[in-house]
Amino acid sequence: MKTLCLIILLLVKNALGQSDFVALLDLKKGIEKDPTGKVLVSWDSKSLASDGCPQNWYGIICSDGHVISITLNDLGLFGNFSLPAIIGLQRLQNLSISNNQFMGTISHIGSIQSLEYMDISHNVFDGLIPSDIANLKNLVLLNLSSNYFEGLVPSGFANFTKLRYLDLQANGFSGDVMSLLSQLGGMVYVDLSTNRFSGSLDLGLGNSSFISSIQYLNISHNSLVGELFAHDGVPYFDTLEVFDASNNQLVGTIPPFQFAVSLRVLRLGNNKLSGSLPESLLQESSMMLSELDLSLNQLEGI
Ligand SMILES: *[C@@H]1O[C@H](CO)[C@@H](O)[C@H](O)[C@H]1NC(C)=O
Ligand SMILES: *[C@@H]1O[C@H](CO)[C@@H](O)[C@H](O)[C@H]1NC(C)=O
Ligand SMILES: *[C@@H]1O[C@H](CO)[C@@H](O)[C@H](O)[C@H]1NC(C)=O
Ligand SMILES: *[C@@H]1O[C@H](CO)[C@@H](O)[C@H](O)[C@H]1NC(C)=O
Ligand SMILES: *[C@@H]1O[C@H](CO)[C@@H](O)[C@H](O)[C@H]1NC(C)=O
Ligand SMILES: *[C@@H]1O[C@H](CO)[C@@H](O)[C@H](O)[C@H]1NC(C)=O
Repeated sequence: MKTLCLIILLLVKNALGQSDFVALLDLKKGIEKDPTGKVLVSWDSKSLASDGCPQNWYGIICSDGHVISITLNDLGLFGNFSLPAIIGLQRLQNLSISNNQFMGTISHIGSIQSLEYMDISHNVFDGLIPSDIANLKNLVLLNLSSNYFEGLVPSGFANFTKLRYLDLQANGFSGDVMSLLSQLGGMVYVDLSTNRFSGSLDLGLGNSSFISSIQYLNISHNSLVGELFAHDGVPYFDTLEVFDASNNQLVGTIPPFQFAVSLRVLRLGNNKLSGSLPESLLQESSMMLSELDLSLNQLEGI
């Protein structure tokens, strides 16, 4: 009887892999402050379901012994967020820990290949984006905004065929803007603003499916130079609603945006643009356009 129990125990343990709840307990060790008291109290190793899933652990969704979602937004949590602790969570789809004070790096993130939504915005993460991030082929949303990341965004973003939302706002990223953008297709929302991206915005050199799907593109507050769309002229943006390239060092004239029929917001302020206002901007696009900011340039004419 004893042996049988032991065998069953071992079978259960193997079926669960190195149990997911153990990984969460490892993660818990890094949390030093939990002002709302919701996490540290509820993440209790005695509170487990029969399939090994954590039971009533705050922010955790688990199914068949596998954690599929970690949601810990806006809790004021302070401490180390140990990615190495959770790389064993082989079914994790959602990681959303926005607006806390988690620190650490995101090395080894590429091991969690099941990830679809990753939002670690508004924390104090730092370091580089590791190149193995290209293994996250199921990613739909990546939000790293308002952290202390720096350096080049690695190549390999072309592997992200499902990615639709990329938010890198307010970090220290650098490198040529097109070497990132030209890897992306099928995007809906891209925010690269408030970084140190350089080079010129030549979307004609990128993937045509980017141009036909993008709705929100914010590259303001960077170090972009040259003329906008110098290579091919203004692309046929089918769905573009918001375009913000303000606070760069763009030169040349204001592009007519004659093919951007959905454009609602256009901000090009605080650059070195010159010449006069293209008539087509106010004729063809004016149906939708509700905000136009061209301030602090060197424009002339009526
Ligand atoms: C967090 O990491 C730092 C540096 O690695 C270490 O000094 C500190 O003790 C860690 N804190 C916890 C709660 O693990
Ligand atoms: C993951 O997050 C997305 C977007 O917030 C949501 O639609 C989806 O239901 C979440 N899935 C799980 C398993 O929590
Ligand atoms: C990313 O996070 C920030 C702050 O938490 C939020 O304002 C922004 O809308 C998010 N971006 C996307 C694409 O969801
Ligand atoms: C894309 O993913 C494959 C499979 O995971 C990997 O072998 C390859 O190195 C990735 N591509 C890049 C450019 O990283
Ligand atoms: C453009 O992006 C789409 C969608 O992500 C992808 O399927 C296609 O292979 C990309 N084309 C090129 C030339 O990279
Ligand atoms: C673009 O991002 C900046 C911050 O980086 C923000 O202030 C601005 O409102 C954004 N533009 C639009 C049109 O959303």
